[in-house]
Amino acid sequence: MSPSVRLVVLAVFAVSALCLDLDISNQTSIKQAAAIIASGLYEYHNTSSTAGLFNQPEPWFWWLSGAGWTALIDYTAYTNDTTYVSDIHTALSQNLGSNYDFVPAEQSGWEANDDQVHWVYSALTAMEYGFPPLPCKAAFNNTVGNCTKSWQAIAVHAFEDFVTRWNLDSQTCGGGLKWQYDPTAKGWTYKNSVSNAGFFQTAARLARYTGNETYTDWATKIWNWSVTSGLVGSGYHVYDGSSDGDGANCSSVDHDEWS
Ligand SMILES: *[C@@H]1O[C@H](CO)[C@@H](O)[C@H](O)[C@H]1NC(C)=O
Ligand SMILES: *[C@@H]1O[C@H](CO)[C@@H](O)[C@H](O)[C@H]1NC(C)=O
Ligand SMILES: *[C@@H]1O[C@H](CO)[C@@H](O)[C@H](O)[C@H]1NC(C)=O
Ligand SMILES: *[C@@H]1O[C@H](CO)[C@@H](O)[C@H](O)[C@H]1NC(C)=O
Ligand SMILES: *[C@@H]1O[C@H](CO)[C@@H](O)[C@H](O)[C@H]1NC(C)=O
Ligand SMILES: *[C@@H]1O[C@H](CO)[C@@H](O)[C@H](O)[C@H]1NC(C)=O
Ligand SMILES: *[C@@H]1O[C@H](CO)[C@@H](O)[C@H](O)[C@H]1NC(C)=O
Ligand SMILES: *[C@@H]1O[C@H](CO)[C@@H](O)[C@H](O)[C@H]1NC(C)=O
Repeated sequence: MSPSVRLVVLAVFAVSALCLDLDISNQTSIKQAAAIIASGLYEYHNTSSTAGLFNQPEPWFWWLSGAGWTALIDYTAYTNDTTYVSDIHTALSQNLGSNYDFVPAEQSGWEANDDQVHWVYSALTAMEYGFPPLPCKAAFNNTVGNCTKSWQAIAVHAFEDFVTRWNLDSQTCGGGLKWQYDPTAKGWTYKNSVSNAGFFQTAARLARYTGNETYTDWATKIWNWSVTSGLVGSGYHVYDGSSDGDGANCSSVDHDEWS
């Protein structure tokens, strides 16, 4: 079971204890319960926002809206309920940016690699499900040779961003992606697990979907680095990150544990 499937099921159970009827042997019942959960999430969508945002209590983060849209793509794929397809298209389009990679001008100045990946997951998920493509753009055509493969093209653009950013920084710590990609941002001197795991996931899912070895090699390289840097410790304990500031060269890992 994929993590996203588990999430939906858990959400259904969590709410069923309060107010939902759910018969897990009855597909109609499952779909009805899932529809209630999905509309509960969708209620937070700010339809006045031109940045595809869900309103959330402060402090809110742009990446959470990316996660929300990915959940609605999952919902659409599991149920075939097309209620949200048009809004998913609009919101994701509003966040693509001029390079079609989820680096929109509206978020510049604070968007980091770990924020970007939460939107990239929506493109990877849409790609894998064969979700309806975005309107044709030459940029999609030029990247993957077929303008109907918008989701794959977007994921490839983000993958290429991460490769470029990794290579710019490979002189410290033997590689690794930094938390921030903007050199002026606080956190530029930190290589962290969530960013590298997002890059790993992007490479691994593209590898599986396309069979292209460039992605396989990068997934292996990111995994190897995550282990040799100590961010993934023995027994698969995953730690927060490591600094390359002031010559630290990732010599000491922040052991705040995430998994
Ligand atoms: C399945 O669930 C739907 C919706 O709750 C209900 O109308 C229907 O009677 C159920 N079918 C069976 C066989 O229980
Ligand atoms: C919804 O978005 C609009 C446009 O950006 C903004 O003015 C408004 O404050 C947002 N609503 C809430 C509840 O945040
Ligand atoms: C969704 O549609 C596909 C293709 O028609 C079908 O194979 C699948 O069973 C449907 N899923 C649900 C949950 O209705
Ligand atoms: C996409 O590529 C095809 C084949 O090369 C071409 O005919 C078509 O005009 C292109 N579309 C766009 C929007 O670039
Ligand atoms: C582009 O991809 C779509 C969907 O996979 C396919 O139906 C179509 O034949 C492809 N077009 C070309 C020119 O390869
Ligand atoms: C920094 O660390 C990497 C790998 O851990 C090592 O290969 C490299 O020599 C180190 N650089 C310095 C200047 O110590
Ligand atoms: C494999 O992926 C890389 C990176 O996106 C790309 O440059 C290359 O053209 C791809 N190769 C094929 C055969 O599609
Ligand atoms: C990853 O590490 C394995 C085991 O040390 C090694 O065989 C492999 O060549 C490495 N691959 C890459 C892409 O770094």
